[in-house]
Amino acid sequence: MIKVLYSAALFTALSTPALAIDTINIIIDSKVDSMKEAGLGAVTYPHKLHEQLYKCNDCHQKIFIDKKGSNDINMPNNMTEQYCGYTGCHNSAHAFPLYLCDYCHEVLPKIKGK
Ligand code: HEC
Ligand code: HEC
Repeated sequence: MIKVLYSAALFTALSTPALAIDTINIIIDSKVDSMKEAGLGAVTYPHKLHEQLYKCNDCHQKIFIDKKGSNDINMPNNMTEQYCGYTGCHNSAHAFPLYLCDYCHEVLPKIKGK
């Protein structure tokens, strides 16, 4: 598995022109209110890491529009093979699964008496 990821990263590094964006992580937080109800907070999206694994046009504009906040990412969509759950991504053996909420979301401290 590690070997596969390593060669994928190497292949991408050698075959992609330097178009990387100047951002390591993107904080995705347009839906804080509904996430709060689930006891969760913002998603920290490791953009740089994904750039190392895939090509820009594997994602843009097919899966994600390349502008922060312009994708209607929600869990029903994620679970039906869209956005983060796109075929071969977080709905498959290639990446950690969607039920590991805290791998993506901040976990909010429990409110007493709730
Ligand atoms: C695995 C998927 C994936 C890959 C590969 C990827 N991106 Fe992104 N990109 C995203 C996601 C997800 C966002 C956040 C979108 C949002 O906030 O709704 C994003 C956001 C962006 C943004 C907007 C940043 C902002 O602050 O508005 C730009 C520009 C961008 N990507 C360019 C690139 C470039 C250039 C590459 C290749 C070097 C690349 N992306 C590779 C998924 C990807
Ligand atoms: C692979 C990353 C990832 C995982 C794992 C993940 N989420 Fe999300 N989730 C997101 C992203 C990205 C958004 C969009 C956030 C935004 O736009 O503010 C989101 C949005 C949400 C929202 C708000 C939108 C909606 O669907 O109502 C809720 C609630 C939510 N997630 C709950 C969960 C729960 C519960 C789990 C675990 C069972 C989970 N998420 C696991 C990435 C993930």
